[in-house]
Amino acid sequence: MVMRALIAGCGGYLPPLRLSNDELAARHGLETSDAWIQDRTGIKFRHVAAPDEAASDLAAAAARAALADAGLPAAQVDGIIVATTTPDSGFPATAARVQAKIGAGPGFAFDITAACTGFIYGLSVAEAMMRAGHARHVLVIGAEVYTRIVDWTDRGTCVLFGDGAGAVLLSAGEGAGSNKDRGLLSTHLHADGRHGDILAIEGGAGSTGGTGLLRMAGKEVFRHAVSKLAAVVDEALAANGLTHADIDWLVPHQANLRIIEAMGKKLNLQPGRVVVTVDRHANTSAASIPLALAEARGDGRIKNGDLVVMEAIGGGLTWGSAIARF
Ligand code: COA
Repeated sequence: MVMRALIAGCGGYLPPLRLSNDELAARHGLETSDAWIQDRTGIKFRHVAAPDEAASDLAAAAARAALADAGLPAAQVDGIIVATTTPDSGFPATAARVQAKIGAGPGFAFDITAACTGFIYGLSVAEAMMRAGHARHVLVIGAEVYTRIVDWTDRGTCVLFGDGAGAVLLSAGEGAGSNKDRGLLSTHLHADGRHGDILAIEGGAGSTGGTGLLRMAGKEVFRHAVSKLAAVVDEALAANGLTHADIDWLVPHQANLRIIEAMGKKLNLQPGRVVVTVDRHANTSAASIPLALAEARGDGRIKNGDLVVMEAIGGGLTWGSAIARF
């Protein structure tokens, strides 16, 4: 028997304000077009946090939804990990804010900085801590407010991002140690800091003393994306003795429809087997995978027993994959 981190609940939260490409352009005086944005990225809409909503508010709402899905009282949560690059403040951790807001138990609470790969990193750390006996019920949350860190004079990046949060509750269970087990089967994490400058927030508390804005060399990032994502998914499948044919659902990080479709093709998946939210959410960084999980679980697409492959790449560079059976 082995410990398995079961996905006991999923939840998401999107701020009520939803802007179309044309509405975004008008609001910020951008020289762009709905056709350019849709053609290059597949994005039609994004949600925007209200002025009084911080990352921890979005995260707490997603956490409450995940707990309701699992039927677990918040007091029984003994660990919270928030993946975010738009934390409420340098400290306390956004996770500690969430702990107070939802009334979770006095277990650990900390943030992870791995940009768009943050949720996969969070799953990996949570599972390792559960195996070590530190917690039985861990919330792993991705929460971002990127509309606060994009440069609204840079039309090449500001149109790509949106705000939101997604959460999963991991609960300790048992498995036989085979790829038929329910729960997280594996996580594979990578980073290559030599490419740190192609996707970064310029500045921060420890360098410039302020909060900088997001900068991205889009073509460079694109060049790394498909090859690294395909390699890290194949690495994960091989580690579990699985093949492309075993995948029920691909739940990719939602940055760009072109990258998502290229990944679906590489894995020989029918388009209906790839969960897509980028058209309505844009890129919500660490929140995009748990938001997509919550949507596909909530509408009944992902069923108990289904094998789900998750993958992401982001600033760092960081990239990674996770395989879970629901
Ligand atoms: N509206 C209209 N035109 C725009 C525009 C916008 N919002 N943004 C850029 N352009 C223009 C540029 O000014 C440029 O014009 P020029 O040829 O006259 O100089 C032209 O479009 C091409 O710009 P470029 O930046 O080369 O576009 P691209 O084809 O590389 O597409 C991205 C840009 C961002 C969509 C694309 O590079 C991409 O998706 N990269 C990956 C990004 C990603 O996934 N990041 C997140 C990973 S976590």
